Amino acid sequence: MQVQELCQKALDMLQMAYVPYSHFPVGAALECDDGTVYTGCNIENASYTPTICAERTAVFKAVSEGHRKFVRIAIAADTDGFTAPCGVCRQVLREFAPNLEVILVNKHGDTKTLTLPDLLPLSFGPEDLL
Ligand code: THU
Repeated sequence: MQVQELCQKALDMLQMAYVPYSHFPVGAALECDDGTVYTGCNIENASYTPTICAERTAVFKAVSEGHRKFVRIAIAADTDGFTAPCGVCRQVLREFAPNLEVILVNKHGDTKTLTLPDLLPLSFGPEDLL
């Protein structure tokens, strides 16, 4: 899939976000090694802490459908700047894709491309336990 198409899928997910508390929609589109794409949005909760980020929604959808190898993720927010994944999402992404390409997308469709090692240096992963 073209990067631009992946970014558009992340932007489209802004419409699906359930954000009555923060009013801060985030969308994600996660591409697997076989080209399958799983999308996600943030889903908030009146009790606040059960809130899940867009990135983890996408990862958990993928893993629960049998996909564990990811090549890139596009993360979109309805902002002028770029929204980077939170620490918890970085760690969840690292579990399955330590070298993941991370594409941040703003509301204008501008992009900034990073890697997971950029975002989570000296990370802890499954190999450290085995
Ligand atoms: N959020 C995400 O979904 N992904 C991020 O990368 C940053 C934060 C969500 C969580 C919450 O619903 C809202 O944005 C404000 O923190």
